Amino acid sequence: MKAIKIDNSHLKQIAEIHKQSYYDDHFSSKLNNKMLMELYSYQIKLNKYSFCVLDEKNCVAGFVVGGYHSHEALEKFKSKKYWKLFYSLLQNPSFFIEKIIQLVKENFGKTQVNSSEKLRLFSIAIRKDMQGRGVGKLLLKRFENELSLDGINSYGLSVKKSNIQAIRFYEKYGFIKELEDLNGIYYRKEIVNE
Ligand SMILES: CC(C)(COP(=O)(O)OP(=O)(O)OC[C@H]1O[C@@H](n2cnc3c(N)ncnc32)[C@H](O)[C@@H]1OP(=O)(O)O)[C@@H](O)C(=O)NCCC(=O)NCCS
Repeated sequence: MKAIKIDNSHLKQIAEIHKQSYYDDHFSSKLNNKMLMELYSYQIKLNKYSFCVLDEKNCVAGFVVGGYHSHEALEKFKSKKYWKLFYSLLQNPSFFIEKIIQLVKENFGKTQVNSSEKLRLFSIAIRKDMQGRGVGKLLLKRFENELSLDGINSYGLSVKKSNIQAIRFYEKYGFIKELEDLNGIYYRKEIVNE
């Protein structure tokens, strides 16, 4: 198996993997496949460190997406899909309440969390039947190799506190906790070239 650059032909499978592997407590898991395809289409257009692994049948087994513009890509997606996202929030009241709390805190200057790392790993996910078989490790390695080639030696990501599986994975690979907010942990990592 090897990691290759993501292109538009992979988007459908990426959306499916996202939908099946992200936990229910992640708002994005409530979006339909078409919305997820659009989200990732913005992400891969603006973020060059985006790779996937294909299995022996040439199907996507997992992917990683990241770069300097993940926030910008997310904002573009949000403004384009504002009403659809608003409607999804209304259908999922716990996320709606979470958003309101976040907005209130930000607007009253209380807890806007800012990581020192501008380059973000936006998303990594492995198809359910391929988890625990080294695909995540391979993708992380490719991601970091590409950063190193561009002279970048650190990056950040955030994860839900409830996502124990991903937290264990990140901590195993040298991520250090940087910040925390109500629901999430912000990690950063220095890339060590062996
Ligand atoms: C977290 C995730 C990306 C890990 O990918 P993976 O392909 O299953 O992990 P790998 O098989 O490459 O495992 C790499 C190492 O991490 C360890 N690891 C993976 N999952 C683990 C777990 N749940 N608990 C403890 N260790 C774990 C493995 O033991 C392995 O160690 P080794 O190299 O010594 O054998 C994957 O499980 C996933 O897609 N999760 C759902 C989506 C998600 O939550 N993404 C992150 C959002 S922030």
